[in-house]
Amino acid sequence: MERGRRAALGLALAALLAGPWPGARAVEPVTVGLALAGAAASALTGLVSYSRLYCYFAPCCLQGPGARRGAALEEDLDRKLFGQHLVKKVVIKAVAGFLNNPNPKKPLTLSLHGWTGTGKNLVSKIIAENVYEGGLNSKFVHQFVSTLHFPHLQNVTQYKDQLQSWIRGNVSACARSVFIFDEMDKMHAGLIDSIKPFLDYYEELDGVSYRKAIFIFLSNAGAEKITEVALDFWRRGKSREELGLRDLEASVSVSVFNNKNSGFWHSSLIDRNLIDYFVPFLPLEYKHVKMCIRVELESRGYMADEDIVDRVASEMTYFPKEERIYSDKGCKTVYTKLDFYYDL
Ligand SMILES: *[C@@H]1O[C@H](CO)[C@@H](O)[C@H](O)[C@H]1NC(C)=O
Ligand SMILES: *[C@@H]1O[C@H](CO)[C@@H](O)[C@H](O)[C@H]1NC(C)=O
Repeated sequence: MERGRRAALGLALAALLAGPWPGARAVEPVTVGLALAGAAASALTGLVSYSRLYCYFAPCCLQGPGARRGAALEEDLDRKLFGQHLVKKVVIKAVAGFLNNPNPKKPLTLSLHGWTGTGKNLVSKIIAENVYEGGLNSKFVHQFVSTLHFPHLQNVTQYKDQLQSWIRGNVSACARSVFIFDEMDKMHAGLIDSIKPFLDYYEELDGVSYRKAIFIFLSNAGAEKITEVALDFWRRGKSREELGLRDLEASVSVSVFNNKNSGFWHSSLIDRNLIDYFVPFLPLEYKHVKMCIRVELESRGYMADEDIVDRVASEMTYFPKEERIYSDKGCKTVYTKLDFYYDL
């Protein structure tokens, strides 16, 4: 519907721009009349806000505040992310607050930590989708995967230059650019420090301000520490939801800083407090795995059959050995397991 309207308006505008419309007679006059009326109406609003009209036809760099985006973000997280009360709280506060701030003092930097399958990629995808239509495919969202984009140790110097010039180029074009760094734990030590100047409190650097950009780092580093704290909580009979950010944030940042394989080893990003939020993803329990399965089934158009939900969740392996509380792979492999039951 939306797309159709856009196309119609696009045609009408094209007709207007084409001047005295030599080919217009070929088109049914009523349609043209309607389209022109539509174009005229929207041209009027366009006068009020040229940029809004412009953004109607081409994807646009985000300009204004994003209060509505904050609400949509919360809704998306509620619907798709399970067992992560801390993540929800931090991400909503951080991202909505940042988008609503017309004059941030530095770019937003989030570092997501936890085992595979606990939702880090999902959350970065949801954030991207709530800032830009098209999410990860938007030309204002840039995702770097360490093993893919920066694989060779001997080329680190080259990567540093490349990364700096990419970020500079993209932020020059759109201040509200989003950069996602996946597999931080596989990034060669020191590489990430090359972007430090962009994350700092500078008004601008060489004429470019980075203060409206968003940087998201994803990493398995710190996961052991998070599990240790969660497990300790569980063993003391406390509810998972009682876990506060304060129980985790400091210990995660310290363990990441001291971990040679975290991508942040002795990183000045941590040293200088340039990471705004360490976001801890808790290991997922059996009941959370079942929630992932149900949502996946529904998104594939099936009624969730509790028998199959139980069966798939039971096929996952759980740790620690005695208590078997947390899923080894979170929700990661449930999707392929489902294929086995449903791909007939
Ligand atoms: C890595 O650097 C070497 C020289 O140091 C160069 O020959 C090679 O092409 C580079 N590889 C990539 C993938 O850029
Ligand atoms: C923006 O980033 C992409 C990588 O995501 C890079 O290929 C491109 O060259 C960058 N654009 C500019 C203008 O630097």
